Amino acid sequence: MPDRLPGYRPPARWLHWIVAVAVLMMIPAGLVMTQEGLPRPVQDTLFIFHKNLGTLLILVILVRVIYRLTHRPPPLPDSVPPWQRRAAAVSHGMLYALLVIMPISGFVRVRAGGYPIELLDRLGFGPLIGKSERLADAASALHAAAAFLLIAVLAVHVAAALQHALIRRDGVWSRMWPGRG
Ligand code: HEM
Ligand code: HEM
Repeated sequence: MPDRLPGYRPPARWLHWIVAVAVLMMIPAGLVMTQEGLPRPVQDTLFIFHKNLGTLLILVILVRVIYRLTHRPPPLPDSVPPWQRRAAAVSHGMLYALLVIMPISGFVRVRAGGYPIELLDRLGFGPLIGKSERLADAASALHAAAAFLLIAVLAVHVAAALQHALIRRDGVWSRMWPGRG
C-alpha cells in the first residue's frame, strides 16, 4: 500500500522543492558565467543573478537545516534494502553539508575579494568580511570542489528518485512530492 506510507510534512516538501529549483538554476548559471569569451552583459547578468539568489538561499537553507534538525523524516518502506537506506542517509547528509558549504564559500569568495553583492549593498549591509586575497582564493577553490561533488551526488540522488517514481513505484517519490497528502 505505497500511497498510505507516511510522507514528509508539507514544510519539508516545500523547502526541498524551493531549494532544489534554486540550486538547479544556480549550478548552470555558475558553470556558464565562468566560461571565457561570454559577452560582457550576459556574464554580468549571470553573476548578479548567481550572487544574489545564492545569498538569499543562505537564509532558506538555514531554515531548512533547523527544520530538519527538529523534525525526523518518515521511515522508509520495508521494501528498501539496508544498503539503500545507508546510501540514502549518507547522500542526504552530504547534500545538506554541501548546501551549507556552497553559499557560504561563494559569499566569502566574493566579499573577501572585495566584490559587490547588489542586494546586500542596497540594503546597507557592510561587506561583513575584510578584504583578503588568500581567503578569497581558498574560498574559491572550496566553492569549485564542492560544486563538483554536489553535481556528482545530485546525479545519483535524482537517478534514485526517478527510479523510485517510475520503476519501483513504492511511494518514496510521493512522500516528497508536494501534491500528495
Ligand atoms: C529533480 C531533482 C530532484 C528530485 C527528483 C528529488 C527527489 C527527492 C525525493 C523523492 C526525496 C525523498 C527521499 C526519501 O524519501 O528518503 C528527496 C530527499 C532529499 N533531497 Fe531531493 N530531489 C531533487 C533535487 C534535490 C536537490 C537539488 C537537492 C539539494 C541540493 C536535494 C536534496 C535532498 C535532501 C537533502 C533530501 C533528504 C531530505 C530529508 O530527509 O530531510 N534534492 N529528494
Ligand atoms: C547553493 C548555492 C550555490 C551553488 C549551487 C553554486 C554553484 C556554483 C557553480 C557550479 C559554480 C561554477 C564552478 C566554479 O567555478 O566554482 C560557481 C561559481 C561561482 N559562484 Fe557559486 N554557487 C552557490 C552560491 C554562491 C554564492 C552565495 C555566491 C556569492 C555570493 C557565489 C559566487 C560564485 C562565484 C563568484 C563564482 C565564480 C568562481 C569564482 O570566482 O570563484 N556562489 N557557483
